[in-house]
Amino acid sequence: MRIAIDGPGGSGKSTISKILAKKLGLIYIDTGAMYRACAYVSLRFDLHGDALKEFINNAEIDFLQDDGTQRVSMLFQGSEYDLTEAIRTPQVSAKVSEVAADKRIREILTKKQKNLASRKNVIMDGRDIGTVVIPDAEVKIFLNASVDERSHRRYTELKEKYPDISYDEVKDDLMKRDETDIKRETAPLLKAEDAVEIDTTGLSVEEVVQEIMKTVKKKRAAGENI
Ligand code: CDP
Repeated sequence: MRIAIDGPGGSGKSTISKILAKKLGLIYIDTGAMYRACAYVSLRFDLHGDALKEFINNAEIDFLQDDGTQRVSMLFQGSEYDLTEAIRTPQVSAKVSEVAADKRIREILTKKQKNLASRKNVIMDGRDIGTVVIPDAEVKIFLNASVDERSHRRYTELKEKYPDISYDEVKDDLMKRDETDIKRETAPLLKAEDAVEIDTTGLSVEEVVQEIMKTVKKKRAAGENI
């Protein structure tokens, strides 16, 4: 079974996907982490446009399971770099949507993601999974929540690592990214026509998981072999 989870930042995609992956025995692939890795490389090595494309084309992005947490690493010219923490900084967040709007970068990452999804037992989260990466996913979910709820969730997460960060900065970053992600020409943030939309405002993690499990069970009851 392949599950596609799309939605804006802070809507709960990664938390929910990790739980469902465990429950259903699926491999979790965080496609946002791949775009974040590209943004990190762009900032770290001052690479843009074709030069960035060239670098990413020659790099491999890997996900490793480590005691329940997922680590993200990049293999480049025979060396492996652990980027798990580096891709979550406010600087990378502020850059990532610009990099993700670049057609050349999307082309490379979409190909890698389609390849990963060909394994048939994945749960993938992002912005264009149900529309572009796995348009034939058996289950498609679009998570959403009010911008204030999403900002509070992200602020609580980030505050632990960055005590100086303010709520307004976090909200501003989410709103700017929403706008860039929705308005871009290639593979914008969009609910697939056949996706089930869930507004997670005020819902607990368990309630969202149960809601998605209903869709999975319905598909199974309808005789779909998933
Ligand atoms: O941390 P948050 O949930 O806000 O976002 P993320 O899933 O880590 O994705 C970071 C950024 O990558 C998004 O704001 C998009 O610009 C981009 N992205 C994308 O364009 N397509 C995807 N499939 C996944 C992420």
